Amino acid sequence: MIRRIFSIIFMFVVFMCLFTVPAFAAIGETPAKQQQVVNVAHRGASGHAPENTMAAFEKAFEMKSDYIEIDVQMTKDGELIAIHDTTVDRTTNGMGFVGDFTLEEIQQLDAGSWFDEEFAGEQIPTFEEIVDKYRGKVGLLIELKSPELYPGVEEKVADVLTERNMHRPNNNKVIIQSFNHESVQRSKELLPNIPHGVLAGMNWAEVTDEQLQEFAAYADYFNPNRNFVDEELVERVHRSGMEIYAYTVREQKHADELFEAGVDGIITDFPEYVYDFPGQN
Ligand code: G3P
Ligand code: CA
Repeated sequence: MIRRIFSIIFMFVVFMCLFTVPAFAAIGETPAKQQQVVNVAHRGASGHAPENTMAAFEKAFEMKSDYIEIDVQMTKDGELIAIHDTTVDRTTNGMGFVGDFTLEEIQQLDAGSWFDEEFAGEQIPTFEEIVDKYRGKVGLLIELKSPELYPGVEEKVADVLTERNMHRPNNNKVIIQSFNHESVQRSKELLPNIPHGVLAGMNWAEVTDEQLQEFAAYADYFNPNRNFVDEELVERVHRSGMEIYAYTVREQKHADELFEAGVDGIITDFPEYVYDFPGQN
């Protein structure tokens, strides 16, 4: 009788090993998709720390993002700084246009408390400070933000990169982009060895192959609003010879959709949404 009970238990264990373990293993298996997607931390890891501050860039670095995205504007005294809006109202305790402040004045503002008290006292960083801290450690996706307000901003950015020998071919991971496509062309002329990207808002949702060809004459990236990205657009951008980084992901499902569409990069406030993909480290 005891023998019989043991043999039933033995048969049960064998059954479990043969059928259930492989089934669980299959569930946990990495699917066949192994495509690598570049992870760009939008204004730094801005879902976790105040955008365009050293705290946000440091968080992105810690989270192992491939690139940090930086919005570059210029102060009244011609210094390059990182801030998104053309006024300081939303992201600091001050008010007024960025271009009406000197560097000294703008750096007295608190750029952290609006996000969380934990970040009280964060300053608006200079572009040079960011480049010096992160070049060679993490890629820099530099956005010329509203460059039409800051004549000469392309030259100033080019000077910062050239002084550091970052203008040479294959030197560091640096990309320059803008919604202002004339500014992209001007910057490309100054820095022909640095890849450039055209940002495309919803007004480019119907972009034609001919327009993509025109962009490809000076740009290496077509970086669109995620709302009009699908597999067909990705294929057309690739056919034009450019890569495609889509913005801005703030939900996991949107990252998943972009991954399915086959984009090359995802610009996100939450870098962890991109690392969740199979094939990511
Ligand atoms: O890098 C793409 C994205 O930053 C463009 O939109 O308004 O967040 O600068 P915005
Ligand atoms: Ca930006």
